[in-house]
Amino acid sequence: MHLLLLNGPNLNLLGQREPEIYGSMTLKDIESQLQAKSIEEGIELECFQSNFEGALVERIHEAMGQVQGILINAGAFTHTSIALRDALLSADIPYVEIHLSNTHSRESFRRHSYLVDRAIGIVSGFGGVSYLLALDGMVSHLRNSH
Ligand code: DQA
Repeated sequence: MHLLLLNGPNLNLLGQREPEIYGSMTLKDIESQLQAKSIEEGIELECFQSNFEGALVERIHEAMGQVQGILINAGAFTHTSIALRDALLSADIPYVEIHLSNTHSRESFRRHSYLVDRAIGIVSGFGGVSYLLALDGMVSHLRNSH
């Protein structure tokens, strides 16, 4: 099984960015934790972060035919990007939406997601653990549907 982890804008600043909301783990910590779990499960995991919407769209295009599932924390693009939604639907790759924070307990503009209605599921509010739960959910989805 080959999976792709995508992180969107400002997530490269995890660890320093609003730690009271996003915690003290860096993106590198999160990616290493997920890589370790993927290795245990015999899964190949690629990680990609960008602050640019177009770069994320292109990375999704490259994943077509290459990966079976995408784990995505699109950051603020979650709430704004029809282009990311279209890329995910065009690629026709199942995806899980991830957030470190509980987006429903914050500003009202964070309650809307352009991605969630077509996602397998969403994990929001568990800090770095959201990523591990999303990996578990994706693996169980793919193993049960193949
Ligand atoms: C976030 C939540 C988004 O609303 C915000 O723009 C982010 C991070 C999260 O992981 O909690 O950049 O996706």
